[in-house]
Amino acid sequence: MGFSYILQPMHTIITTSYRTAAKFISNNETTAFPTETVYGLGANAFESTAVKKIFIAKGRPSDNPLIVHVAEVDQIPSVASSMPRYAEKLVEEFFPGPLTLVLPKNKKIAMNVTAGLLTVGVRIPNNPIAKKFLKECGVPVAAPSANISGSPSPTTWQAVKNDLNGRIPCILKGNPSRIGVESTVLDCTGSAPVILRAGGITLEQLRKIIPATRLQKHQGAIPKSPGLKYRHYSPFAYVFIVSSMKETVPLKSSAYIGLHSNENNNFGLKKICRTEEEYARSLFHFFRECDKKNIETIYCESVSEAGIGLAIMDRIRKASYQ
Ligand code: TXA
Ligand code: MG
Repeated sequence: MGFSYILQPMHTIITTSYRTAAKFISNNETTAFPTETVYGLGANAFESTAVKKIFIAKGRPSDNPLIVHVAEVDQIPSVASSMPRYAEKLVEEFFPGPLTLVLPKNKKIAMNVTAGLLTVGVRIPNNPIAKKFLKECGVPVAAPSANISGSPSPTTWQAVKNDLNGRIPCILKGNPSRIGVESTVLDCTGSAPVILRAGGITLEQLRKIIPATRLQKHQGAIPKSPGLKYRHYSPFAYVFIVSSMKETVPLKSSAYIGLHSNENNNFGLKKICRTEEEYARSLFHFFRECDKKNIETIYCESVSEAGIGLAIMDRIRKASYQ
């Protein structure tokens, strides 16, 4: 991990008090906190010295920008300097929720939040603890997912602890994340919205409001969402995408997650999800359970790229590029 050598081990408080957690933000420190997508690792987005601690704790490359979180719509102007009319509609429809809008940046946001870009991602999470916490902070909170860079995003406070215990001063405890994959990142700097990262709000939902919404094709040399070029969401095991259980080699050292099952029960771990929503919610947690059991091979059943299926396929594809 890039920066770990300059980090002094520290005590990590685990608390259910959003007030306690918010004090760390006021003191230019970091804290992890729950959201409906995944847990975030936050710092005051106005203070570059505080934001730097996020990059150090995660071992995150400094050219990968962070999303800024606020409690209320009326705080958005302190993060973004303007927004097109179609983005206002999206705010009305989807905030609070699993959607991040990329907009022109307000100068007050520290430059290391946006990795030098003149745009910023802004989001209002829809999780009761996150809302209270962000309100108590009173400032915009820059927060990537609260995992060591490259590993699966944390959907429980225990997963945050597993990755960042001794590297951050505080974890605000909440329930497991309801959605389990990250927010949809939507570029709103052009004449129509472009999805840079599929996530909790689907393409179909966005098109109902703004029919011109399209998907970014990231074949280009420079990905518009800088995070897209790094190894991501990866458990220690090799991840394979299969179209059915027939394509697997069931062993105690292999695992399977998907929507369909047959009689094969020889896997070290197996998770059959009833819906795609459950698949999305379970995926990162399943990866982490596999790591605990020293699973060597994880088979993920492919799903159609409709609805939340688009985000599931994106995550398992990235996890499978070792
Ligand atoms: O659901 C989520 O979005 C979670 C929770 C904590 O809110 N956060 C999250 O953050 O997933 P992170 O840092 O793991 O992913 C942020 C993504 C990265 O792919 C990054 O490159 C992209 O958003 N991003 C952030 N700011 C951007 C900008 N100004 N332009 C383009 N992409 C941006
Ligand atoms: Mg992340």
